[in-house]
Amino acid sequence: MGPEEALRTLNEELTRGHRLIAAAVTLEALDEAETAVLGRRAPFSSVQRGLGGLDEEARRRVGRRTNEVREALRAAVSDRRRALEGERDARALEGDRIDVTLPGRRLRPGSLHPLTVTMHRIVDIFTRMGYRVVEGPEIETEWYNFDALNIPPDHPARSEKDTIYLDVPGRTDLLLRTETSAMQIRTMERVAPPVFVISPGRVFRQETADPSHSPVFHQVEALAVDEGLTFADLKGTLEAFARAMYGPEVRVRFHPDFFPFVEPGAQLGISCFVCGGRGCRTCKGEGWIELLGCGMVHPNVLKNVGYDPERYTGFAFGMGIERVAMPLYGVPDLRLFYEGDIRFLRQFQGLG
Ligand code: PHE
Repeated sequence: MGPEEALRTLNEELTRGHRLIAAAVTLEALDEAETAVLGRRAPFSSVQRGLGGLDEEARRRVGRRTNEVREALRAAVSDRRRALEGERDARALEGDRIDVTLPGRRLRPGSLHPLTVTMHRIVDIFTRMGYRVVEGPEIETEWYNFDALNIPPDHPARSEKDTIYLDVPGRTDLLLRTETSAMQIRTMERVAPPVFVISPGRVFRQETADPSHSPVFHQVEALAVDEGLTFADLKGTLEAFARAMYGPEVRVRFHPDFFPFVEPGAQLGISCFVCGGRGCRTCKGEGWIELLGCGMVHPNVLKNVGYDPERYTGFAFGMGIERVAMPLYGVPDLRLFYEGDIRFLRQFQGLG
């Protein structure tokens, strides 16, 4: 190769090298480009190897140009390498990126169950009136749940269709209490009049769950016994309760009803606190909501616990907590209370 051809080759290789180096978009491609322009089999290297065969003047000329081209290409390669390494590092950083601009995931604080909130409200109203809270066992005997409450042996509520009896060897009288009224007896057995107690708790009935029934539900029982208590006291107490619970405009009405442990017995209705009595969805167009059973304690019940019915009279009432809560919070299906669905429960946050 003559000196002129060598110089032309060097210039061509410089141009080709710059193009290849610039075209490399990965570090591997850059390595290949470097080999292609500066490697042993590259035209550049043949020129370099041929330097020894040139005369002195030509060798100096071509040699200088060889050095210039090598330096230029090496510089181009290392510039390009730095750029590609920078891109690679940026990509890795982007992949590891943690977005700290989002708010953290907060743990939601728990809150009281709507039935607990309702129970507390009921209990609060009566404790402010002077009633004391008593609680009793969920497993009861036939005596406390039925006999002592003047419920005759052939009463339909006692059948296994309505009551859940327990299968305990040697006992046939154990059952899951069907109403909190059982606590009336346990209380009066223990204390002498005057008695003013309320008793909240779970009760159980042989029942298939549907929008308004459940085999497990909750009641609050109230019992007042003293000398001279009359039906007027019962009415006044329940009217005060209804107003405290549902608002001062609420009116009450009493319908005759029958429960074996009271005489007379009644059903308390309240004017609908949503529509004021005109009729709406909450009261199903009636204008009234039936709320609870009540009555004057039956003389037989007083006798059963050794109270003198000639001297003492009393009243009692029992209400379903679900039945109180459903119209209050607009809950259309009783089963929602027991499903534990967080979307349902969340709506009551802050109430209790
Ligand atoms: N125990 C009755 C019920 O479960 C309610 C009630 C309580 C009625 C006290 C009268 C007196 O429906």
